[in-house]
Amino acid sequence: MALPDTFLWGGAIAANQAEGAWNVGGRGPAVTDVNTYKPNVDPREYALHHTNTLASIEAAISDPDDTYYPKRRGIDFYHRYPEDLALFAELGFGVLRVSIAWTRLYPTGEELEPNEEGVAYYLALFEEMRRLGIEPLVTLSHYDPPLALALKNNCWVDRSTIELFERFSRTCFERFGHLVSRWLSFNEIDGILRHPFTSGGIIDETVEGSLEQACYTALHHQFVASARVTRTLHELWPESQMGCMLTMLTTYPRTCHPDDVVATQEKERLLWLCTDVQAGGAYPRLATALLERKGVTVPFAEDDVEVLRDHTVDYISFSYYMTMTESVQPDVERVPGNTVLGVKNPYLESSEWGWQIDPVGLRVSLIDLYDRYGKPLFIVENGLGMRDEVTEDGRIHDDYRIDYFRAHFREMIRAVDEGVELLGYTSWAPIDFISASSSQMSKRYGFIHVDQDDMGGGTLERRRKDSFTWYQKVIATNGADLS
Ligand code: BG6
Repeated sequence: MALPDTFLWGGAIAANQAEGAWNVGGRGPAVTDVNTYKPNVDPREYALHHTNTLASIEAAISDPDDTYYPKRRGIDFYHRYPEDLALFAELGFGVLRVSIAWTRLYPTGEELEPNEEGVAYYLALFEEMRRLGIEPLVTLSHYDPPLALALKNNCWVDRSTIELFERFSRTCFERFGHLVSRWLSFNEIDGILRHPFTSGGIIDETVEGSLEQACYTALHHQFVASARVTRTLHELWPESQMGCMLTMLTTYPRTCHPDDVVATQEKERLLWLCTDVQAGGAYPRLATALLERKGVTVPFAEDDVEVLRDHTVDYISFSYYMTMTESVQPDVERVPGNTVLGVKNPYLESSEWGWQIDPVGLRVSLIDLYDRYGKPLFIVENGLGMRDEVTEDGRIHDDYRIDYFRAHFREMIRAVDEGVELLGYTSWAPIDFISASSSQMSKRYGFIHVDQDDMGGGTLERRRKDSFTWYQKVIATNGADLS
């Protein structure tokens, strides 16, 4: 069992969780700047749809502090990236997935020209990555629509956002295309159905009509935007590649009762919808029929059908943390997962946050995706969020993290051995930072520890955990030594 020599190992981070410097360098506010940290909340809460109201947004805007808005401070990657990149280079990274904050380039989303200070920042970042031999894999939109657009017209619900996003994307391709050749359009594009504010800039109470309709309208606009920017990228840089990005929530039936199987099928149909459109080029008939039964209309306009058909993605990327289980029984135990609440799988252990750990599910997911689309795959997120303890000698003995990765890498390599074409793997996240769902700092994913607590206290010092040395060895041996 061996991975190809071209296999890319690395890590993945997002601007809104790492950069901080939310009001520095001309950056405008993004929706994540008003996401609050809520102490002592049951992890189940994070899995449920909870929204930002106009009142909570206004309160956040009038509060210049970052204590309760941890994504405003991140881990100060904005200023500390040279040190962090040096640590990633020490790990042996061939690739680092980052995202570009839309509001660093276009503070409200509507400017006609980009903010040059924002452009200069990303140029310097990508140049430093290249200098260190780390390829940038860049997400254009990772949970940070401009807050101004959310307040103006619910951002992605309004079709005009497509053109604004095209302007932003074109700037990225023109200014960074000589340094970046692999892109992703939308992080976890399906997420808009679970967290409309963070993914789509949708404020529930200002939506006209049903929220479900608004979410599917916004999702359609993101599909079209993704296809259009894929066209632009290929025009400007024919050798460059655009990928889609899915939350891979592979779902098992709770029992072999046929009703559980049908319920599972239906759930997965809406999961596949996103990749069917972005990789296959059209809405699948069964998904369309399911949406019609829900009373949802897809707002096709102009040349949408042709654009979706002609500008599909070059590769498929996904996040994988856990699998889901489905049952028609109302009284089964439920557990939280990645912004979802699902049925408990009795065969799996869960993390403290309730996410069910399932390494075999990664192999299942890889095989399902490759079998369905036959396009190259990229695992762009996978990891374990845990509380870490710094021992008296200043070390972090995170054997549980090593165990998690080892088990997942075994299954990943098996899938490749079975014939799956996998371009690479970026762990989430190589360095501790702010959790997307809970805005906690204490939910740590990294090989590198960052000295900061949930309320922003700490020195921000970076420290190598035990898993650092282990991942370094895995990369150096291209996955051959997982001991
Ligand atoms: C993915 C997101 O869904 O899960 C990341 O793309 C996020 O932004 C990751 O951080 C882990 O979730 P959380 O809530 O533990 O940070």
